Amino acid sequence: MPVSFANLKDIENKPNYKFVKMDICDFEGVLKLMQDEKVDGIIHLAAESHVDRSIKDPFTFAKTNVMGTLSLLQAAKAYWESLPEKYEGKRFYHISTDEVYGALKMDGTLFTEETKYQPHSPYSAAKASSDHFVRAFHDTFGMPTIVTNCSNNYGPYQFPEKLIPLFINNIRHRKPLPVYGKGENIRDWLYVEDHARAIDLIFHEGKVAETYNIGGFNEWKNIDIIKVLIATVDRLLGRPEGADLDLITYVTDRAGHDLRYAIDSRKLQRELGWEPSLQFEEGIEKTVRWYLENQEWMDNVTSGDYQKYYEEMYKGR
Ligand code: DAU
Repeated sequence: MPVSFANLKDIENKPNYKFVKMDICDFEGVLKLMQDEKVDGIIHLAAESHVDRSIKDPFTFAKTNVMGTLSLLQAAKAYWESLPEKYEGKRFYHISTDEVYGALKMDGTLFTEETKYQPHSPYSAAKASSDHFVRAFHDTFGMPTIVTNCSNNYGPYQFPEKLIPLFINNIRHRKPLPVYGKGENIRDWLYVEDHARAIDLIFHEGKVAETYNIGGFNEWKNIDIIKVLIATVDRLLGRPEGADLDLITYVTDRAGHDLRYAIDSRKLQRELGWEPSLQFEEGIEKTVRWYLENQEWMDNVTSGDYQKYYEEMYKGR
């Protein structure tokens, strides 16, 4: 996915920020960067993350998510082991997903840190594999690692391949809303800034070798979220109530579509005092407003190859 510099505008002049464009699979390049910058902490968020893309192109997911993670781990190992203090004061924090746990039934159960891995999509299989590599580097080499598994994020700057920004944009332009299957799948939604707060806290105060689940205790059926999005966009644009409900278009289901995700994040609450700060209604209102007020951002990210991607993704559905 192309780098969107517009997403970095707020921080581009900060003295503690530097952007380097590099492929995480480039082991030599990453190692040199770690040495040049004397890196002592890594928060690894780089990944191919969209399930539909992984169904079309699993190789890219294995390459970036598995080999890319391994390349970062190997580079950190080579650099940190070359220092006199070795792993002391160092930290490799890997950001992962709740999708590694597979799918839940509609029975109120939640994913805990002890739930066994059962990934179903090429995306989640690749993330599961990268999680295993991270833990293996702790167990084998003593690298100070931490893994977190988070539920669905939403908020500003999300690429419109994901449900919420895609549908806000389609409602605005009165384009069909492609609902997979019956729209009954359930996701647990977390506002992106709550996830960012959790990452900051865990990076500084989390215990090495631990796993923490991060989630919103906020389960929604897709079709119900979609109705909230329609109502919110229509209200904010001054359209009559329910005007765009007819955009809902049921399409062929996603292959291997996981029925339900829901995270038990009580360990993080108990041990580090984190909890989600925003009510969903408030978060969705903020999010819809942001996309409507930042149409230029949306136009930029949906120009170029995006149209081709979009047509390809929904072809034959
Ligand atoms: O659970 C965490 C995961 O959440 C992250 O690890 C992934 O990177 C992220 O993409 C997200 O995965 P999902 O597959 O749940 O997110 P997505 O936004 O693609 O879809 C949310 C739900 O909406 C899912 O049940 C599929 C459905 N959907 C999605 C799209 C894009 C539709 O019905 N129509 C659509 O056009």
